[in-house]
Amino acid sequence: MKIIYANDYQTMSRKAANILSAQVILNPKSVLGLATGSTPLGIYQQLIEWYKKGDIDFSQVKTVNLDEYCGLSRENEQSYYYYMYHNFFKYINIQLKNVHIPNGLEKDVEKECKRYNNIIKSLGGIDLQLLGLGHNGHIGFNEPNEAFEKETHCVKLAEETIKANSRFFSSLEEVPTHAYTMGIKSIMQAKKILLIASGEEKSEILYQALFGPISPQVPASILQLHNDLIVVADEPALSVI
Ligand code: GLP
Repeated sequence: MKIIYANDYQTMSRKAANILSAQVILNPKSVLGLATGSTPLGIYQQLIEWYKKGDIDFSQVKTVNLDEYCGLSRENEQSYYYYMYHNFFKYINIQLKNVHIPNGLEKDVEKECKRYNNIIKSLGGIDLQLLGLGHNGHIGFNEPNEAFEKETHCVKLAEETIKANSRFFSSLEEVPTHAYTMGIKSIMQAKKILLIASGEEKSEILYQALFGPISPQVPASILQLHNDLIVVADEPALSVI
């Protein structure tokens, strides 16, 4: 594991964006695993800036997102498709046919999970997976559990996740209770993993994830077993390390 220290959020975003852009420059046909949440926003902004300057070309890049809320359409402002499109994809030259996000409107869980697993397989796996860290140690929407779930599945969101994510909705009741998420095996099979964390509120869980026991109760702790894990975090998030 390599831990890269950044003074602040902006520096963290730039350093992490550097790793993503190096991946795309070295392999323009890269398959990127992408994440949502507030932490990656600075990375997407930085990448857009570099794209506009002509430094990066996304025309052959393929992406697979970690997760999507069940019941939300692409047009719903809280959906992760909407987030990805409006915070990143619409500003770069990625081909939308190369963008993959679970379909939150698909009610047939088995069908959607199978479809998404097949997409990941048909892309030949993920070259670089970007990950944020949930307050309870979740990655994607892999919540603390009795066992690690391997592949795409539909998960009942933990109460603390619903609470934490309610800041994006107008009320707690509006937050979907379920989500589709890529599984731990698909994440761990990525060739390289880039974990980002910002803010003091993530410091304790980041410590547990990186140095605590490996347990499905802290899903991110499995990352300790990955042989190419880069962590980019800011000073407050690293304050207990
Ligand atoms: C959501 C996403 C995760 C993300 C997490 C942390 O639950 N499903 O992929 O890592 O939020 O988000 P934030 O970066 O806003 O703290």
